[in-house]
Amino acid sequence: ATMQGATSKKITMARFDNKIEDYVNKIDDYLESVLPQKTIPPTDLHKAMHYAVMNGGKRMRPLLVYATGETLGIDSDYLTPPAAAIELLHCFSLVHDDLPSMDDDDLRRGKPSVHVAFSESAAILAADALQALAFHVLATAPVYHDHDDIRIKLITLIAEAAGTTGMTGGQALDLASESQLLDQAQLEHMYRLKTGKLLRACVLSVVYCNHSNNSEQQHALERFIDVMGIAFQIKDDVLDIEGATETLGKPTGSDANKTKATYPGLFGLEQSKQRINTLLEESFALLENFDNRADGLRYLSKMIVKRDM
Ligand code: IPE
Ligand code: IPE
Ligand code: MG
Ligand code: MG
Ligand code: MG
Repeated sequence: ATMQGATSKKITMARFDNKIEDYVNKIDDYLESVLPQKTIPPTDLHKAMHYAVMNGGKRMRPLLVYATGETLGIDSDYLTPPAAAIELLHCFSLVHDDLPSMDDDDLRRGKPSVHVAFSESAAILAADALQALAFHVLATAPVYHDHDDIRIKLITLIAEAAGTTGMTGGQALDLASESQLLDQAQLEHMYRLKTGKLLRACVLSVVYCNHSNNSEQQHALERFIDVMGIAFQIKDDVLDIEGATETLGKPTGSDANKTKATYPGLFGLEQSKQRINTLLEESFALLENFDNRADGLRYLSKMIVKRDM
């Protein structure tokens, strides 16, 4: 069976913004189906896991997976397991990120953080279990039963994106950088790990499902997401200064309170915004040789840079 789907053609005919709701519903239904039921013991653990995941995140990572799928013509049913695994890892990272020993933030996605709503120990354990669940999803997804080679590649990719060479390593650098003066290269290295690697895995997951092996295209997509990964975190840092808690759903001023090393902190707001705009232009240039099937990625690029949440 091939993953190049007939449905992907039909779905690309509408504008991407009109499809976001359908894609978000698709990933939410799937996430709900893989999470352990809240009524099954240990119920507190399972309730905390649901609370951490089913809570109105933007689902930017799954959307990036689906938009890359449109670009390369891969059926979205093949892409939902990696999209879900990456979102589960992202949610786990947010639960830990908010803990008192890390960023110590009480609000997430417009609601009390998991350690506030439940307890610190419940938050730690719920995040642990979300991490394990992400890999369980990949290891067992029925759509890959004829494609164990791809399954293994996805597990390897996503494990590297979450581990010491990715998000977790980046979070360690983030904590070690508090009150430090980093240069631009050091700062962007930290962003590439803590935020960029999971975003990069969104795009590469689709590349790994693609049999056509157009290496020029793949290279352009890789560079595209690397650029947007940096832009994503700089924008997050700008919003921490200029955003509104009610729209953001998380506390503003958190970075300054913890003397985090951030782009605006080190180089100022103006330079940060300039850098974001340059990165947006670069991302569009990298998609230049793609037809309108890459409009979803173009849309998400703009959304990453223009968002107010
Ligand atoms: C926030 O990510 C954490 C970062 C890596 C910057 P998002 O802005 O994607 O948060 P949600 O998923 O929408 O809550
Ligand atoms: C996000 O960085 C890093 C993660 C990998 C979770 P931040 O600490 O700035 O994220 P927010 O602002 O709390 O969402
Ligand atoms: Mg943090
Ligand atoms: Mg934080
Ligand atoms: Mg932040």
